[in-house]
Parts: sequence; structure tokens; C-alpha cells
Amino acid sequence: MTGKKGEAVRPVAFAIVTVLVLMLGWDPPLIGPLAGLNFDWSNWNTSDMRPFLGLEDWPCDPHNKLVHAHSISLQNAAGPESLAFDGSGGGPYTGVADGRILRWDGNQGNWLAFGVTSSVRTEVCDMQPSSVDNEHVCGRPLGLRFDKHGNLYIADAYLGLLVMGPQGGVAKAVSTQAEGVPFKFVNDLDFDENGTVYFTDSSARRPRKQCNLVTFEQDKSGRLLKYDPQTQQTTVIARDLFYPNGIAVSQDSSFLLFSYTSKSRIMKFWLKGPKSGTMEEFAEVPGYPDNIRITKEGDFWVALHSRVTRLQYFFAKNWYLLRLLYSLPFKFDHIAALTTGPPDAMVVKFNPHGEAIEAFEDRSGLHASFLSYAEERDGLLWMSSVFLPKIWTLPLNASAGSSRRFGVV
Ligand SMILES: *[C@@H]1O[C@H](CO)[C@@H](O)[C@H](O)[C@H]1NC(C)=O
Ligand SMILES: *[C@@H]1O[C@H](CO)[C@@H](O)[C@H](O)[C@H]1NC(C)=O
Ligand SMILES: *[C@@H]1O[C@H](CO)[C@@H](O)[C@H](O)[C@H]1NC(C)=O
Repeated sequence: MTGKKGEAVRPVAFAIVTVLVLMLGWDPPLIGPLAGLNFDWSNWNTSDMRPFLGLEDWPCDPHNKLVHAHSISLQNAAGPESLAFDGSGGGPYTGVADGRILRWDGNQGNWLAFGVTSSVRTEVCDMQPSSVDNEHVCGRPLGLRFDKHGNLYIADAYLGLLVMGPQGGVAKAVSTQAEGVPFKFVNDLDFDENGTVYFTDSSARRPRKQCNLVTFEQDKSGRLLKYDPQTQQTTVIARDLFYPNGIAVSQDSSFLLFSYTSKSRIMKFWLKGPKSGTMEEFAEVPGYPDNIRITKEGDFWVALHSRVTRLQYFFAKNWYLLRLLYSLPFKFDHIAALTTGPPDAMVVKFNPHGEAIEAFEDRSGLHASFLSYAEERDGLLWMSSVFLPKIWTLPLNASAGSSRRFGVV
């Protein structure tokens, strides 16, 4: 909504909305879908919103190459949010919606049970499809990484930062709170050159099953944390963050990147040098970024869960309209469906300077969608989805510049 027309409409719309809102008093009868959810509108702040970064403005993959990705189905499991390979290249391993860690055995074409994140698993965890309402019992493994000794570190959304030995089994919690505030939504981790673990807690207020609200509320209770396996100390290194999500340490451990999901940004946190301990914007993306994984060359692949639509952008800029809509007796999913675009898939590669250098898409969303992960390994791009029961691989061509190269302003 820019230009003359938008300017003329805005005061009229505002007047109507104001009258309605005064009449309704922002849902005092608690009929809206947010009633009882302790929803806080006060974090909405449009002053740092840039012009809409839509498809038209964003470099892309005109050939929709993800349509040609090879998919591997999970068996009786769904939601492989991220992947990890062990020290000898075995795997990938993945954490699924029912709290299990599975290992792909490419020779047999089979998924093997490797471990579980919850020590109090019950039979509800064996039900398929699994329900988000059981996640706090069964655990919900998200980010996974092997350390140098072959231990698997797991960011479990409900159970905290966990570790599992090289033989798998039941994971042990190594960190569940910091500064007396328990983790609510642990999301991803990475190691620096010294084996220190950096990880994200996406919100101190809401669990993963309310992840849509963490985005929608502009929750800023997320934290960036550091765990030292030597001293077993956990330290908060940044706080008041907007949905900190996937994380990746740079090749020389001088900085780390993390997804700022609800702000559609990638942030850079300095670990060394004069700016050590400070944070700055690395890149803006046209959707909701999830995991970030570094390549051998030191570039970073980012998976976008979905795009920001023009309507979502409009409502974000005019959030009082959204507030009004959510004060009326509609269903949350119905309003959300109104503004969300159709499913599609996009992964983007950034160089260490924050310039997007390659992108793959499936705009039809039929073959791949809701991607949460992309990792380049031995000429293949491995991808996965927090929702769907599959992972994908796409052969990458050796020659650089196979896809259109572009710069980002
Ligand atoms: C809104 O965002 C701007 C830019 O990030 C910031 O300077 C300002 O303090 C924020 N205002 C509130 C009320 O949070
Ligand atoms: C790793 O340890 C060395 C030696 O103590 C230190 O100089 C370096 O800054 C550490 N790296 C990070 C990322 O903290
Ligand atoms: C790799 O090269 C082939 C042949 O030139 C092309 O058809 C394919 O789309 C390329 N794949 C990627 C991922 O760039």
C-alpha cells in the first residue's frame, strides 16, 4: 500500500477501525481466537520494516530446480526438521516428530532407530501420526550436530540441550535453563573451533507447538546461549531476540549467524575481534528462515519455511487491522490461511558477506515445500522439512555459477 491511493484509504480505514475497536474494546468478551493465549500485541513495531521483499524483487531460480530433487520417504515418521552426518559420513541422522532419532542406511534403503530424546516416553509417543500435544512427553528433536568425539548434541524443543553417545540410546540433558529462566523452545546448535556449543532458545514464553504465535506475536523473549562442555556452564550471550532459530558458526569462528525468523532476517553475532559480543543484520530474506548450514567453502545455505506474502506484509504494517480481525469470532487457522501463500519451497545460499549467491525453488510446492534444512555435502544438497514425511537430495554441479548468480542490495 504505497502511493496516493494508499494514503487516501489509510485515514478512512483507520477511522472505521478505531470506531469498531472502541465498540469492541479489543475483544473483552474473549470471543477471538487469541482469547486465553495471553497474547501480547505490544511488540509490534513497524519502524524497522523495509519495503516488501517480494518475489518480484528477489533473485530466484527460474527453472524451479527443486522439482528435480530426489525424495526419500520416512517410514512411519514425519517432520525431519534437520539432518546430521557422523564423523565417518554415515547418515543422515534426523530427529522426528515423535521424539526419535533415526539414521538413514542408504545401502539398505532403510531408516534405523538410533535413539530417543525423552527418558519418560510412553506409548502415546508411538502413535502415528504423532500429535503436537504429546511433544512435551515424547520430546521434539530439532537441531542435531555431532561433536569431534562422535557424541550427538540435540536441541530438543521441550527437553533442552541434550547429548547422546556415539551408540545412540536415550539422550541426557546437559542444559535446561539459564539465569534461572528455563528454556521453553530450544531450536538449534553449533560448535566453535574450541568445541563450545552455541544454541538458540526461540522463546522464553511459548513452547514449539505455539511456534506460529511466536512469529505472529513478534515475541522477543528469545535467547542466544553458549554451553561450555568443559565447565558445563551455560551463559546467555544475547537476549530479547525475535524468534532466534537456526544457527551456524563461521569457518574461522569469528562470528555466527542465526535466523531471526519472525523478522525475516539473518543476524550476525560476532565471537571475535573488536565487535565481539555485538550483533548486526547479515541479510534480509523474503520468507521465514529456519536452519542455516555452512559449506566447505564457508558459504551458508538457508532454508525458508515459507514466503512472506504481500497480504501478510500489509497486515504487519497495519497490525491494528490484524488485531481487530483477531478480536472477532474467527478461527486462528482461517485468518492465517487468508494471508498465507500456497506452499512452496526455497533455499538460498549466502556468501560470508551476506550476499545471496544461489537459490533453488519449487514454486509449485508439489514436490517440495515447508523446507527447514539445506546442507551441501559431496556434491548433493540435502534438504528436509519440519512437517512432511520426507527428505530430499539435489545433485549440485561442480562448476560454480550453475544457477543464476546475483547480488543483494
Ligand atoms: C522499534 O524499532 C526501532 C528500530 O529497530 C527501535 O529503535 C525502537 O526502539 C523500537 N521501539 C519499541 C517501542 O520497541
Ligand atoms: C578458542 O580458544 C582460543 C584460545 O583460548 C581463543 O583465543 C579463541 O578466541 C577461542 N575461540 C572462540 C570462538 O572463542
Ligand atoms: C546441472 O547441470 C545439468 C546439465 O547442464 C542441468 O540440467 C541441471 O539443472 C543442473 N543442476 C543444478 C542443480 O544446477
